[in-house]
Amino acid sequence: MKMNPYVSSLALYDVVGTPGVAADISHINSKAQVKGYTGDAELAEALKGADVVIIPAGVPRKPGMTRDDLFNINASIVRTLITAAAEHCPKALLNVISNPVNSTVPIAAAVLKAKGVYDPKRLFGVTTLDVVRARTFYAEAQGEDVADVEVPVVGGHAGVTILPLFSQASPFKELSAEKAEALTRRTQDGGTEVVQAKAGKGSATLSMAYAGALFADACLRGLNGEPGVEEFCFVQSTVVPGLPFFSSKVKLGPTGAERVYDLGDLNDYEKAGLELLKPELKASIDKGTKFAEQGP
Ligand code: LMR
Repeated sequence: MKMNPYVSSLALYDVVGTPGVAADISHINSKAQVKGYTGDAELAEALKGADVVIIPAGVPRKPGMTRDDLFNINASIVRTLITAAAEHCPKALLNVISNPVNSTVPIAAAVLKAKGVYDPKRLFGVTTLDVVRARTFYAEAQGEDVADVEVPVVGGHAGVTILPLFSQASPFKELSAEKAEALTRRTQDGGTEVVQAKAGKGSATLSMAYAGALFADACLRGLNGEPGVEEFCFVQSTVVPGLPFFSSKVKLGPTGAERVYDLGDLNDYEKAGLELLKPELKASIDKGTKFAEQGP
């Protein structure tokens, strides 16, 4: 974000270690002014005046864990941060990265509602890394230049809830059933692939930072009125009946999510994938909503 030309002021917040990170990042020769904020007492100051808030806070997975196994710790962290955002920058676009995204976004929505400042157009779960992965894997498998590749990824951000739509990929080249299944699995398990490779030392950070920065850049371009800004993200949605939050293509503009697009045509394999993800995604959404509604 320090390298983003739209950023004039970059506030870094964490519970420890922020002065060092802020000093380090501040030496990059771009215009954003950087300031570090540490601990509860400085959270309000970090958030005041923010147009976009990016929340990657919380603990990462270890091998063998699902994203939902992080719920007990990360749910409270997200609740605290969103409560502060509701108080100090209620109009900001909120980019939630903290896992499990399928639950932390509904938590954020419920907290914002309770605070009387919920605007569904301004709350996003960041699923860009799934799109980044699907593009990489598809390009590799099809022998395409990855710079030209687009692959829609819809649903949520955990296991089978991640549904890449290779039938809508471009440039389009027919995939065999086996190849489509292998690419779907690899996209769904992309996070786990990194968790396993890191062998207890956390989950994706570098590719996640890239994807998080891509999505925040799209938010900033939308806020600045650039036309035609579209990204896949997890938002309040009516696209799939029974799933109040869902990731699909969204048009970003000066007021946030200005349009949530339908899924387009799915092939039979993707239709089956959509049916498969429904119960898990619904359960994760309900778990988050219930947690937030019960209060601290
Ligand atoms: C990812 O997709 O890499 C992140 O959600 C982190 C994780 O736990 O997989």
